[in-house]
Amino acid sequence: MTATHITLQPRPRDASVDHSIQAIVTGTGPGETCNTDLAAGPWDFDARPGYGPGSSMGDVIPTGAPRQGELPVEYREASEAELAERVRAAKATLGDRVVVLGHFYQREEVVLHADYVGDSFQLANAALEHPDAEAIVFCGVHFMAETADLLSRPEQAVILPNLAAGCSMADMASIDEVEECWEQLAEVYGDLDTPDADGLVPVIPVTYMNSSAAIKGFVGRHGGIVCTSSNARTVLEWAFARGRRVLFFPDQHLGRNTAKAMGVPLEQMPMWNPRKSLGGSNEETLADARVILWHGFCSVHRRFTVDQIDKARAEHPGVRVIVHPECPMDVVDAADDAGSTDYIRKAIAAATEPTTFAIGTEINLVQRLAAEHPQHQIFCLDPVVCPCSTMYRIHPGYLAWVLEALVAGDVLNRITVPDDVAGPARLALERMLAAKP
Ligand code: 13P
Ligand code: SF4
Repeated sequence: MTATHITLQPRPRDASVDHSIQAIVTGTGPGETCNTDLAAGPWDFDARPGYGPGSSMGDVIPTGAPRQGELPVEYREASEAELAERVRAAKATLGDRVVVLGHFYQREEVVLHADYVGDSFQLANAALEHPDAEAIVFCGVHFMAETADLLSRPEQAVILPNLAAGCSMADMASIDEVEECWEQLAEVYGDLDTPDADGLVPVIPVTYMNSSAAIKGFVGRHGGIVCTSSNARTVLEWAFARGRRVLFFPDQHLGRNTAKAMGVPLEQMPMWNPRKSLGGSNEETLADARVILWHGFCSVHRRFTVDQIDKARAEHPGVRVIVHPECPMDVVDAADDAGSTDYIRKAIAAATEPTTFAIGTEINLVQRLAAEHPQHQIFCLDPVVCPCSTMYRIHPGYLAWVLEALVAGDVLNRITVPDDVAGPARLALERMLAAKP
């Protein structure tokens, strides 16, 4: 849908995106939302094909993506206050037996109950640091729960409260497509495992944390490594020390923005479209390539534009614009700064003088930062309230459901990475943990 022009205003100091959306839909609050269905409970659209309303709604959900069964009616009909009380009571009963992790992009009503709030990497570490907890309830998306399962002890259960909380970007690179790409690259470069006279193999696969465990396992098996948005440069340096070039997936923007900042020319970054032969490229271009970029993107970060930045600068002289590196290159280039979710959070916390910040990342984090730092004016570059629809599927109703089941002795929605994938996937993660700038 086309966003109508809205003057950028500081958001109300209520950190809840749900409250903003309800107010917009009932006409009692300002602004615009990308889809009025967001005001409904996620159970209304979980069972439907597709990702549901929100920023990922235009993406194609893979046929094999997990589907969430119907949430029992008592959770669907409970009020916000009742659910909060039930979650609190279940957590109190479970005590140290459970750790609740909440990603920065989660709803405020969920973050409220998290023992740890952080980015996907920090939360994976939090799982690692709680070897005695019986269950880790991961309020985030599927690939994050898989990573927590890889890093936790086998006896610990990692629980994703809503199985339909995937990541449309992670789903843009399937293991079959990546295997097929690897075979085609072997036809162009020859034996991919044998180093040349300089000790470099033809190509090192690098996957963003936002990918399935199967892809991390592929990377581990082929001498590759995982990266996050906070260590992508270090990881690319690690890869260039071992290979002539990098195959980077699934996020083209993180790959392009990072490689460009390292001085790799754009002509040496061809795109690989898995639906085309040789990715839509040709042998000559691939021979000269330094970074082959997978045709993937984040639908949330793709919404940010240079026009939004120009408007923020015109309306708020002195504004500091910080965006996430999943944004397109022209947006990152036009911003003052780009960095991971944790980088954005720390940059705001470090500002000693009252400052106006325009932020290009998911609305739940931006609205929370605005509420936490009333001395600053903080707003989202995108004037339309449009959360990551997959993250938004973790509603407190699902959290209450899985926690009360644990109290009753039932483990629901457990995420388990199969053994044959877990070994190489762990190896790829360990390489990342060991990579130093
Ligand atoms: P982080 O790695 O910063 O947690 O980001 C995850 C994500 O999904 C960004 O869109
Ligand atoms: Fe995936 Fe984008 Fe949502 Fe992050 S914000 S979980 S990359 S769809």
